[in-house]
Amino acid sequence: MRSVLAAHVGVAPGELVFGREEKGRPFLRHPGAPDFNLSDTHGGTLVALCRQGRVGVDLERLDRAPPVDRLSRRWFSTQEADALQLMDPESARQAFLRLWTAKEASCKATGTGIFRYTPRWRFDVQADTPVLLELPADAGDAARWLFFRLSPSREHTAVLALRDAAPPRLTGYLLAG
Ligand SMILES: CC(C)(COP(=O)(O)OP(=O)(O)OC[C@H]1O[C@@H](n2cnc3c(N)ncnc32)[C@H](O)[C@@H]1OP(=O)(O)O)[C@@H](O)C(=O)NCCC(=O)NCCS
Repeated sequence: MRSVLAAHVGVAPGELVFGREEKGRPFLRHPGAPDFNLSDTHGGTLVALCRQGRVGVDLERLDRAPPVDRLSRRWFSTQEADALQLMDPESARQAFLRLWTAKEASCKATGTGIFRYTPRWRFDVQADTPVLLELPADAGDAARWLFFRLSPSREHTAVLALRDAAPPRLTGYLLAG
């Protein structure tokens, strides 16, 4: 992570100085440094940066098989959990991963943490690229947000959530295992 970030700050990797926001979100303590966020899972790590605004990322393995009904009742809105319950198990598993990555990336962009916040971020259950339906009041206006679905490898899926950012030029990404 240091070597990726250092190239954008203009210092040696070992010289980077990090801070943490109240809920643990890391940031670079260098004037004019980009905002960044990181997600780690089996088989890879994704680091995203943005020069303007804030970014959140979540990376998950596509083969994850979480207890969909229990987790969606705990972490999703009632509408989303009800919609998943009506699906066949494989469709519900895939929809769960789509929603989870969108919600976690959004919470990581704001830095609120996931507790009490994931149900308040609502997305279209069917859409692959996240389509925002509702967001917490303290996340700002919906028009300030952009979402992208990334496929960094055959085994992974990820969401990039951006607030107040210029439309990004995605020049490519590399999943470091
Ligand atoms: C804990 C949990 C939210 C994810 O944790 P995780 O796997 O460590 O998350 P990620 O790898 O995406 O992100 C961790 C990084 O985010 C950053 N981060 C930490 N706090 C943050 C915050 N408040 N906001 C934004 N980013 C933050 C840090 O860089 C952290 O890395 P570090 O620990 O090395 O400092 C999640 O696993 C969980 O609680 N799950 C319970 C529900 C569940 O099982 N859902 C199903 C998932 S498919």
